[in-house]
Amino acid sequence: MCGIVGYVGPKSTLEVLIGGLRRLEYRGYDSAGVSVIANGQLETRKKAGKLNNLVAEIEAHPLPTAHIGIGHTRWATHGAPTDGNAHPHLGGQTSRLSLIHNGIIENFAELKAELLASGTKFSSETDSEVAAHLIAKAFERTGELVAAFTEVVNRLHGAFTILVIDQDQPDVVLAARRNAPLVIGLGEHENFLGSDVAAFVEHTKRAIAVGQDQIVILRAESVEVIGFDGKPAETEEFEVDWDASAASKGGWPSFMAKEIADQPQSIADTLMGRLSHDGHVSLGDLAALSPEYIKNIDRLVIVACGTASYAGDVGKYAIEKWARIPVSVELSHEFRYRNPIITPNTLVVAISQSGETMDTLMATRYARELGAKVISICNTQGATLARESDATLYTHAGPEVAVASTKALTSQITATYLLALMLAEARGASAPAELARLGKELLKLPAKVTDVIENLPQAMALGTAHADASSVLFLGRNVGFPVAMEGALKLKELAYIHAEGFAAGELKHGPIALIEEGQPVIVIVPSPRDADSLYPKVISNIQEIRARGAKVIAIAEEGDATVGDYAESVVFVPQTEPIFSAVLSVIPLQAFALALSTAKGLDVDQPRNLAKSVTVE
Ligand code: G6P
Repeated sequence: MCGIVGYVGPKSTLEVLIGGLRRLEYRGYDSAGVSVIANGQLETRKKAGKLNNLVAEIEAHPLPTAHIGIGHTRWATHGAPTDGNAHPHLGGQTSRLSLIHNGIIENFAELKAELLASGTKFSSETDSEVAAHLIAKAFERTGELVAAFTEVVNRLHGAFTILVIDQDQPDVVLAARRNAPLVIGLGEHENFLGSDVAAFVEHTKRAIAVGQDQIVILRAESVEVIGFDGKPAETEEFEVDWDASAASKGGWPSFMAKEIADQPQSIADTLMGRLSHDGHVSLGDLAALSPEYIKNIDRLVIVACGTASYAGDVGKYAIEKWARIPVSVELSHEFRYRNPIITPNTLVVAISQSGETMDTLMATRYARELGAKVISICNTQGATLARESDATLYTHAGPEVAVASTKALTSQITATYLLALMLAEARGASAPAELARLGKELLKLPAKVTDVIENLPQAMALGTAHADASSVLFLGRNVGFPVAMEGALKLKELAYIHAEGFAAGELKHGPIALIEEGQPVIVIVPSPRDADSLYPKVISNIQEIRARGAKVIAIAEEGDATVGDYAESVVFVPQTEPIFSAVLSVIPLQAFALALSTAKGLDVDQPRNLAKSVTVE
């Protein structure tokens, strides 16, 4: 939530800031603003609404050429999304200091009372403005900007990344990080700051992830990192493997459309180097889990939020079936606050695209305090979650910009398959020949996803045809159940209509009462080939709802000659191992939601009220 970018160097600062904000806009898009220092003078422009409103504001009131500046795109927490509450916020008697903030300052009320008592005037309702005034005042008192900044960040409670520039020290950007993301980009005679590497990846691939409770002193020719205690901090440089072009639309009408189409590649990239041609899985990234430790795991807890939790739900079927370890999937925010039973033999697996979801971070910190090992399945290099895990299995899906997750989900599911096969082998829980067969089948998944993508116009046409629907229900069993949940979530997120996913077996215990004439229901139909298939049961469920007026769209396996007799429309996906079918059947649901939302004239990349990365609890 909230994207931040900072720059110092010879380039046009405004271009760097606006370019960075465009790539970070997924983090929040309620308002945006920039401050630059030119000719010793601080200049600020900010505007409610999407980034284009700010761009229009700058066109109307141009900014001078500058070589230092900060920019912000907001997801409102304290104070409505108005021009006044937009960042940056100014501090100091002459408003010469500018500050941007991502996070929540929990003790802001008490700090604000102190400032009000000393006569400070506020121009916004935000928690962030208190920090601007406090730093400006401390600077006026001490004459030392870094010391003033350090003093104040030590007084703030909660979660924050804060960036500050001051016209009295026009060569330096100061930044502080506690419980919110911050990455440094290292250039030649220039340096960058961003909420994530997307902010500067078009300028440099060299980066440093800033640690917890650290301060950055950023100049064009130097980068210094110190702790909140003022002592020098150790840093480690890494190379960003995202391509700048991967974070652009590349001719697609939306990022979401592009990211749906990216899936054969993102899944192949997630498998690359981890699955040999004979189906053997080796996960060097998880070397921190010794064979001895793996043998002793007695329980696996997957923690995640939103779409990532559905990846966990699918992973549970794979891990329990092949590795024979009991798995529970927990929403991170529920897990953290219910005193869960965790032992040193509990392996916690945190799944997060961004690696910055605060609830998931809090859950993993808590699990580690209780002595558990934590591994993460994460898509973002340098993310806090990866830094705080014992090991990370990166998903290599590339940047996901659309707020609604698509390619990150299918890569996360793929990573859980790899994890399941690795654990199964290490524990001797499945026969080697069976594991090799599964591995070889998994290798074929990217090609099968390509077939699904080629057939997406059918799912899109169905989405467009349902543009007037006020409610869509989704049913599935086994891995089809989390797929149904995800299909419903996509519609809520993108089309703002009532949508619910149910376990088909639960139908008669309540949801069937919702069925009336014309109700669209999307049913994930399992393979009829599998000996233990739930196929006949799902066909019965379809008949039960059709008898009550439901209009059924089935997502079914190619070669299923029967399903067409029971459904109004059938979208076929290629045959695969039943557990792998989750990846194939969820993609038409992504396309259905995309098309339905587009037909309603909505913004598919930036749905209302949402942010891609929820960095507050
Ligand atoms: C937000 C996003 C979802 C995402 C969830 C978890 O709600 O809108 O698309 O699934 O956060 O995000 P994470 O980065 O932890 O996977």
